[in-house]
Amino acid sequence: MLDILQNILADPSDKGNLIWNEERQVAHNPRLGLDYPFQNGFFHLTKGEAGKSPIFSKPNLGISKARYEGLAEWYDSVMQDGQNRGDLANSAYSILRSLLGKGEGIVLDIGCGTGLAAEISKELGYEPIGVDLSQDQLRIASKRLPVVLGDSAELPISDSSVRSAYSTFTTTDWENLEKSAKEIFRVLAPGGRYVDIGVHPCFYGAFSEPLSEGEILQKPGYNQSRFVEPNILKGTVRSKVGAWHRPISDVINTFLSAGFKLIKVVEGGQGDLPQLLALSLLKE
Ligand SMILES: C[S@@+](CC[C@H](N)C(=O)[O-])C[C@H]1O[C@@H](n2cnc3c(N)ncnc32)[C@H](O)[C@@H]1O
Repeated sequence: MLDILQNILADPSDKGNLIWNEERQVAHNPRLGLDYPFQNGFFHLTKGEAGKSPIFSKPNLGISKARYEGLAEWYDSVMQDGQNRGDLANSAYSILRSLLGKGEGIVLDIGCGTGLAAEISKELGYEPIGVDLSQDQLRIASKRLPVVLGDSAELPISDSSVRSAYSTFTTTDWENLEKSAKEIFRVLAPGGRYVDIGVHPCFYGAFSEPLSEGEILQKPGYNQSRFVEPNILKGTVRSKVGAWHRPISDVINTFLSAGFKLIKVVEGGQGDLPQLLALSLLKE
């Protein structure tokens, strides 16, 4: 599997601000004739601090990474617990199954977390490769799929090198959705597809509070894209890590502005009001 991953890893000299992480353990990439940083079972290829040397400088992973560090075991278990986030996760993965459909070859799982969606893409015939910013999450994910430490906004993947990609529950976590959408577009080959599944910004977002009996209290604040701090949010995961709120038009238009064609929209989840928004997108 490492060979497959080596074939699509970016040459950091093509991407000025990707760096070797501090770790000096390496795995040789015969395709590029380069030694890639490799530690704890995965490659490390993250963004450097602005203005610093791209080689062996200190990584600047920002708040996104820090927010998920130390939560991996907890996150992995609540996402599989039907009494907790498990039902929502299962609904998302079943939408993923239908939108991705059967296929083959590499599929990128961007913001893979602990790699819970890998089982679905493997079942469909793909070879998933995960990218995530959290070493802690990747520690668990690496037992489920080959992974690389990297940022969705600076993907450590070569141009036009994959035909399929997906991401689940991440549009509320990616700090820079615009850059991430452009990066996903860049790494897909023409004809490549991307499936994005996240919590529904209108009915399950930072400004929607589920009440009893399926009712939702809508609070002011929906129209503005911004990061909402964990202490003012309810919800299993978001009350620990906070959430990037973006109105539905911002989410969709961001992918369209990156160059994608929208093929299908699915609203799903349990109950009457949709908890999930799924987009199937094409790079023509
Ligand atoms: C809610 S979890 C979703 C994990 C997984 N996709 C799932 O279905 O359970 C969000 C994940 O996005 C990762 N993440 C946040 N910002 C990221 C970024 N800029 N690039 C890559 N991963 C990021 C976090 O580390 C975390 O593992």
